[in-house]
Amino acid sequence: MFYPLIKKVLFQIDPEQAHEFTFRQLKHISETPFNFLIRQALPTKSVDCMGLSFKNPVGLAAGFDKDGDCIDALGMMGFGFIEVGTVTPKAQEGNEKPRLFRLVEAQGLINRMGFNNKGVDNLINNIKKSRYGGIIGINIGKNKVTPIEKGKEDYLTCMDKVYTHAGYIAINISSPNTPGLRTLQYGEALDDLLSAIKQRQNELKVKYKKYVPITLKIAPDLTEAELVQIADSVIRHNIDGIIATNTTLQRDLVKGLNHCEQLGGLSGRPIQLISTDVIKRLSNELNNRIPIIGVGGIDSVIAAKEKFAAGASLIQLYTGFIYHGPRLLKDIVNYI
Ligand SMILES: Cc1cc2nc3c(=O)[nH]c(=O)nc-3n(C[C@H](O)[C@H](O)[C@H](O)COP(=O)(O)O)c2cc1C
Repeated sequence: MFYPLIKKVLFQIDPEQAHEFTFRQLKHISETPFNFLIRQALPTKSVDCMGLSFKNPVGLAAGFDKDGDCIDALGMMGFGFIEVGTVTPKAQEGNEKPRLFRLVEAQGLINRMGFNNKGVDNLINNIKKSRYGGIIGINIGKNKVTPIEKGKEDYLTCMDKVYTHAGYIAINISSPNTPGLRTLQYGEALDDLLSAIKQRQNELKVKYKKYVPITLKIAPDLTEAELVQIADSVIRHNIDGIIATNTTLQRDLVKGLNHCEQLGGLSGRPIQLISTDVIKRLSNELNNRIPIIGVGGIDSVIAAKEKFAAGASLIQLYTGFIYHGPRLLKDIVNYI
């Protein structure tokens, strides 16, 4: 109800400061009796996916709550699942500021955050403290200082630590802001990574007597051949789900707009069709063998419908949530 007003104020300040300010307020409010201000009572629209039961299929995408600082507040808004992270084994600062830019005319964002996070142990502590009853996905990555040839070890370190705390684990190899990371999406490097991850998942399953699904998050900037190869790899390695997509390096749809030349990943409305197209192509390749979590530019009920129609079983919001607030989540869940 208040979001249009709050947004007007927030959009007057630097985007990253606005994000941090909002987080502090949300966290505070969620711990007081005034939490009715952020609570949304949404109808239950259960979806079973990857062996998990989601109370509704609309989740929060990775990067919004990287350290799991605000899980309860976000849960109160009614998200069916919350993906925290990307976290890395060790804390890291991320890129130099400013590193987040609004492309207001296009309802987009460009970010080059660079996996700023307080490390995997801190995230686990925050998850332990949270009371959210929904599914928490934990998105993991590699530290910038870890050479790409050793990247696999960072993913395995994070897996070991998050396994018992995660509803599912997301392997992020598609951020454009960690040098070399996207090379893990291709050929032998991908096969090698997925096979190590699958083996570790099996070991952890036996150790903890709990199966935690593994998902792979991919970029929208893939050729047809690369997409086919990724689909083939995830099927061969029995990966449980694919998250499509991360942000894009393309700028065609925002040419001439303020900040369009900033380096980093573009998200929001400009990537809506790009990511829907990837989901469609992927869905054709996968033929229902592996579920897709659709993300990219969802900013309306229609955009959400298009993601489901393209083949997504679950969807996630990020930039649309910044531009439209919790009402967007409510409208989509009510529609489903
Ligand atoms: C500021 C910002 C930070 C992000 N950080 C991450 C991240 O840490 N890990 C990740 O997998 N995706 C990250 N993303 C990508 C989003 O999860 C999502 O895939 C992408 O923004 C497309 O969805 P959208 O158009 O709804 O924002 C980030 C996006 C933004 C805008």
